[in-house]
Amino acid sequence: MDREGRLLSLREQGSEQSTSGVQIRCLPKDGHCIHHKVTPFVITLPKGMYRIKSKYVPMYAKRMGQLPPYLFARIDEMKAGKIRDGVDVIDLGVGDPDLPTPRHIVESLCEAAQHVENHHYPSYAGMPQYRSAVADWYKTRFGVSLDPGKEVLALMGSKDGITHIGEAFVDPGDYVLAPSPGYPGYYTGTLFSEGRVHEMPLTRENNFIPVLSDIPKEVLKTAKLMFINYPNNPTAAVATTDFYREVVDFAGENNITVVSDNPYSEIAYDGYRAPSFLEVKGAMEVGVEMHSLSKTYNMTGWRIGMAVGNADILSGLGRVKTNVDSGVFNAVQHAAITALSGPQDCVREACAVYQERRDILVKGLNELGYNVPAPKATFYVWMQVEDCMKFSAMMLDKAGIVVTPGLGFGRWGEGYVRFALTRPKERIIEALGRMRGLPA
Ligand SMILES: Cc1ncc(COP(=O)(O)O)c(C=O)c1O
Repeated sequence: MDREGRLLSLREQGSEQSTSGVQIRCLPKDGHCIHHKVTPFVITLPKGMYRIKSKYVPMYAKRMGQLPPYLFARIDEMKAGKIRDGVDVIDLGVGDPDLPTPRHIVESLCEAAQHVENHHYPSYAGMPQYRSAVADWYKTRFGVSLDPGKEVLALMGSKDGITHIGEAFVDPGDYVLAPSPGYPGYYTGTLFSEGRVHEMPLTRENNFIPVLSDIPKEVLKTAKLMFINYPNNPTAAVATTDFYREVVDFAGENNITVVSDNPYSEIAYDGYRAPSFLEVKGAMEVGVEMHSLSKTYNMTGWRIGMAVGNADILSGLGRVKTNVDSGVFNAVQHAAITALSGPQDCVREACAVYQERRDILVKGLNELGYNVPAPKATFYVWMQVEDCMKFSAMMLDKAGIVVTPGLGFGRWGEGYVRFALTRPKERIIEALGRMRGLPA
């Protein structure tokens, strides 16, 4: 304002801070002000009336530029856009069971949450009772003997173990062998430990099983970790114990730590029983297995899982985790004990539901002219298409159906899309109906 109360445009000539505020030397900025004969003057802004302009700009680490936008987050955004436009979207994209966590497990959590002894920091490695329940489950299910004190570690889901193990074993520039297509955590975990991923292609020709002899010698020189994942996300392929034997020999020869990621072992059909990597002789010497209650008991939101196997490898992972998290809420561990040691009918019932959906979807897709084999395990159907991005975009745009483009799981996922069987059969039937009018 000038002395007559008119608003002026000012040019700052400098300022000085004092304990009482800031003094700003000002000049009028344009001729209009000069016309009003405004002479330079000083204004004082008391503290609280001004903010010093911050020079702060977020300087993200370079690795942030390499992080892909997490695939499912991006698909969620696209889906949200369609829903905002009023489309009745059928989401066959994300691998999150629509079925509820069985009642007896929820009740166990509610009961355990009442007790004050469960309200404190949990133990880093997991409660001894939880680790014993995991060891008992592995013995009953796979015939694998584990020492709960040293060979079992509680995880906040298998993702926790997958994304942190690299920090214990990978130095900058080291190679991590990961399936492509593969679960995105193998790539991001490697990035956080400044390693390099060597993709092991999973193709129809190799039955979606990596060909270990194709891995270049140069890569093997500094390869520290190898991820394998059967039953496989996203291809739904399964592995034999013969493949696991090959992996054990290969890891022993090349001094590579094996991480078998096995969260889908219980989601299986037509009587198929998926093996554990640890069933194979020598596996405990070279590797660990990540498992979780997420898919088996519809507990994705609870964040509970386990790493089991070689004690030294687990000790490395445990040391990292001790420094980044504070364990799993004890009440959740109590509920997980109930899940692992209680009746298993709920698992069989869930598989029967997925199997019916699988049959409907696979039959429907084949009738539409696609060539889709029925998976033996996982709740995914992996379908060949020409261009995965174009196909998924077309499905969302023209039919309001979300499927996951194979490229989101790595370069070798091109040419495929993934359907998840995590929606009621009525929605799958509806989706097939909508697809009938689409170009094949
Ligand atoms: C192959 C694979 N591994 C690990 C995970 C992580 O699961 P969670 O952390 O819930 O156990 C997923 C989740 O979709 C997965 O598909």
